[in-house]
Amino acid sequence: MQSLASRKPTTAKKHEDDVCYASYPKAISGDQLSSTANGSDVRIRAFNVADLQDCREVFTQGMEQLITLIARVVFPKYVWPIAAVTVFFLVLAAFQWTITIFLPYIFTCAVILTLLYIHVYMECWKFINSCLATDLKDIVKTYMSRNDGSRMWVAEWNGKVVGMVGLIHNEIHKPGVAELQRMSVSPACRRMGIARKLLDELLRHAKDQRFETLVLTTTSAQTPAILLYKKFGFKLVAVFPYPQKILGDLQYCYFELQL
Ligand SMILES: CC(C)(COP(=O)(O)OP(=O)(O)OC[C@H]1O[C@@H](n2cnc3c(N)ncnc32)[C@H](O)[C@@H]1OP(=O)(O)O)[C@@H](O)C(=O)NCCC(=O)NCCS
Repeated sequence: MQSLASRKPTTAKKHEDDVCYASYPKAISGDQLSSTANGSDVRIRAFNVADLQDCREVFTQGMEQLITLIARVVFPKYVWPIAAVTVFFLVLAAFQWTITIFLPYIFTCAVILTLLYIHVYMECWKFINSCLATDLKDIVKTYMSRNDGSRMWVAEWNGKVVGMVGLIHNEIHKPGVAELQRMSVSPACRRMGIARKLLDELLRHAKDQRFETLVLTTTSAQTPAILLYKKFGFKLVAVFPYPQKILGDLQYCYFELQL
């Protein structure tokens, strides 16, 4: 892998003041944002230092949803066998009194599923906390003050940050390759084209910076994000199983886009 130093600095102009506007195409659910139905705008702009806390919150909100999405992928593998055995017990109970076995069985199943959920919950929070403690701890340092094309954008509505996305090119990336990271939109503002606008801005910048390839990693549970990336032409190039066997049906998906 080549070092960052081998990548020639580009002549592309700075994007601090870059903005574009996304009108809300649909009504917004959520009390806090209901007034946007009258046509207020979302502004996509470069991150500035005052956005730090908002960005950390928007990222955390986005990733909290991952707990539900991962549970949906992981649970069926455990729920179906449990359901099958439960039906067996119920049939048995119709013929003879098996409540003394049935109740401990139900209790054991409930404990297993609860422990599984706690495990998923803790894995997600481990990831959230590791991001908050590394690149999202000092966004200026990680994304904004490097001279290598790295950048973070936010979507702002009515003075509030409601979305974010980052592009990073550092020593772990090959020359000409940058990585999309930390895409997140506040739950109350989803399906309004905000992620699309964030990605438009990111792609514009990546082309200006003469990156040739964009890469990103997501999980198979993040179906809305996968649909979004595919819509922008990202191709699935590799799939890796999640390292922990207990979450066996979960996979890492590695996408690439040639610019
Ligand atoms: C993925 C995410 C960023 C999408 O943000 P968004 O602002 O709601 O997305 P947009 O409204 O711009 O949608 C753009 C396209 O993405 C796809 N998409 C987004 N959300 C979708 C959903 N819930 N179901 C199906 N498709 C979806 C659609 O193709 C959509 O185009 P369309 O509206 O013309 O059908 C948002 O759901 C989110 O923050 N999720 C949690 C965090 C996360 O998973 N981030 C990705 C990390 S890799």
